[in-house]
Amino acid sequence: MDNILHLTSTNSTNDDAYQLALKGAHHGFAVLADSQLSGKGRLGKKWLSPTGTGLYCSIVLRPDLPFSEFPKLTLTAGLSLSLTVESLFPEISFGLKWPNDLYGDGRKCGGILVESSSPNVIHEDTFMIVGIGLNVNTNREGLGTELKDKATSLYLLSDKLSDIQKIFNKIHKQLLSTVLLHETNGFGSILQEWRKRDYLLGKEMQWVTSDKKIITACGMGPDENGQLLAKDREGNVFEILSGDVQQAEKNTKP
Ligand code: BTN
Repeated sequence: MDNILHLTSTNSTNDDAYQLALKGAHHGFAVLADSQLSGKGRLGKKWLSPTGTGLYCSIVLRPDLPFSEFPKLTLTAGLSLSLTVESLFPEISFGLKWPNDLYGDGRKCGGILVESSSPNVIHEDTFMIVGIGLNVNTNREGLGTELKDKATSLYLLSDKLSDIQKIFNKIHKQLLSTVLLHETNGFGSILQEWRKRDYLLGKEMQWVTSDKKIITACGMGPDENGQLLAKDREGNVFEILSGDVQQAEKNTKP
């Protein structure tokens, strides 16, 4: 298919897709790689990308939506990933941790890195890159010592090895159809579905503010702008725009 570039190895499919989008790659164009040498995670983290065990792909979106909708599309992308794996593994209970980490059995098995073009360019040139990393056939050793207790894979969750290309095809199709739903019907129904899968809902969680304060509050789910809401024990409600939220060690409601 001419709308998919399949590479054996690359530094980062997000970087490739971004460069190709700058040169005019169309909505739905995707870069898929068997391995990445410098896979990027959110917030400057690395994404380990060895051959044969994971799915590493980046999809160009040029949605028919104003740039202000782009933060919500991050959640649309997460929902698409969840819908895909749910249809392939109905026996597993998946969840979405804001903004778009995929969880299975309380551990992370996939993540999404969204990168957008500058909002200053003219509308025709605005695009976003949805970079998806999914632990597919990874075994326990493949997760590495650091992530062993925090991460998992579809293989570890299901005891089944999967065809990575087939999973990519399904994710690609699902993402484009969920984005179309967002374009035609708005964010409302997507948010509703996202909330059903909210991993942090009602859980005590923590994050660090820009002035280095650690806040502990209970997850209330994303609002209609895609921002995460949380309430602390004093009843203060926080709006979280970006960053890393972690489930607190003890899981008690305020
Ligand atoms: C995260 O959870 O931190 C996001 C991880 C995103 C990783 C994917 S792998 C394919 C694409 N290319 C990258 O360099 N990163 C994303």
